[in-house]
Amino acid sequence: MKLNRNYDNLQESYLFSTVARKAREFAERNPNADVIKLSIGDVTRPLAPVVVEAMKNAAAEMGKAETFRGYGPEQGYDFLKEAIADYYRKEDGVTLDLDEIFISDGAKSDLGNILDLFDADNTVLIPDPVYPVYVDTNLMAGRRIVMLNCTAENGFTPMPDEGQEADLIYLCSPNNPTGAIYTHEQLRAWVDYARRKGAVLLFDAAYECFVTDPSLPRSIYEIEGAKECAVEVCSFSKIAGFTGTRCGWTVVPHALLGGKLNAMWLRRQTTKFNGVPYIVQRAAAAVFTEEGRKQIRENIDYYRENARIIAEALTSLGIRFVGGVHSPYLWMECPNGMESWEFFDYLLENAAVVGTPGAGFGQNGSHYFRLTAFGDRQRTIEAVERIKKLLG
Ligand code: MLT
Repeated sequence: MKLNRNYDNLQESYLFSTVARKAREFAERNPNADVIKLSIGDVTRPLAPVVVEAMKNAAAEMGKAETFRGYGPEQGYDFLKEAIADYYRKEDGVTLDLDEIFISDGAKSDLGNILDLFDADNTVLIPDPVYPVYVDTNLMAGRRIVMLNCTAENGFTPMPDEGQEADLIYLCSPNNPTGAIYTHEQLRAWVDYARRKGAVLLFDAAYECFVTDPSLPRSIYEIEGAKECAVEVCSFSKIAGFTGTRCGWTVVPHALLGGKLNAMWLRRQTTKFNGVPYIVQRAAAAVFTEEGRKQIRENIDYYRENARIIAEALTSLGIRFVGGVHSPYLWMECPNGMESWEFFDYLLENAAVVGTPGAGFGQNGSHYFRLTAFGDRQRTIEAVERIKKLLG
């Protein structure tokens, strides 16, 4: 028996597990401390009533012989894929065939699983800083990773370098962790580059619902030619609070590699995945009804207001940051030249506020810190007051 030695190249634990452990240890040492978490991007608003109603109805259907369902289609029920296709048509002017959409238990799983389709001998271009799942899943497979610098100098939206070869390219816009967003023109440059290089773009659109400016792209397929080079991964987690309910989708267009990748992903999913529970898919479909969209908008607006409150505090402190406008994340420079884990400890020890150290997202994050707007309003206000008191 031989173990996969590539695991030796990973950090000892996953970033958000490390942050959670440190916060837990602090709380154990300080049982009277009232710890506020603005760290992992986990939602706090409850599911919309229309979603809960759909779930209850679906559960009732499962309890009757006439409407009971066993295994569903591994790639998802048509009623949900139709709702998603309709969302793309209305929001982005993008037309998708139903069999280009695959329902999953979330973006994180698909971002890792899709790598089954690609040889280990590919060169992967990954932004730095980045959602750690892109790096970790490629390290597990032993792929060669080239980092793409996202810095204040390039507005945290790095552009392709013609001299750099790449087979797989990860882009996330609006970005986790920086909150930066690409324009149509910038994404067009990436699509053109990917096509010239014969590369596949893995586009993470998990935060598209936070885009407020209609002139900014929410889907890579708004860019001409993207269906020939891009896979898009998206999720109900942030749009509708499904972090604990689990549902997402991946689009693999027929035009990509002449349909080869779509066929391979179908083959992979039918072999290794039994689909998302019917009850969850019914709940997800309710998100895109007229009433569902109204209700989820209220939650998204709530988080936007949290982001505005955090942004206002950082501005009043003279701290430079990006994000928080088309994104629930704010990417701030650590004060007084502090390193990001040092600032993490300082904030935890002195204000009992937990954020995410930028170093956990990559080397370029070593002097940055991520705050999330997904918290409860009163707790966010309290956290901001404590930060102002500590750093003011
Ligand atoms: C984050 O905090 O970066 C996200 O919540 C992680 C995720 O969605 O898996």
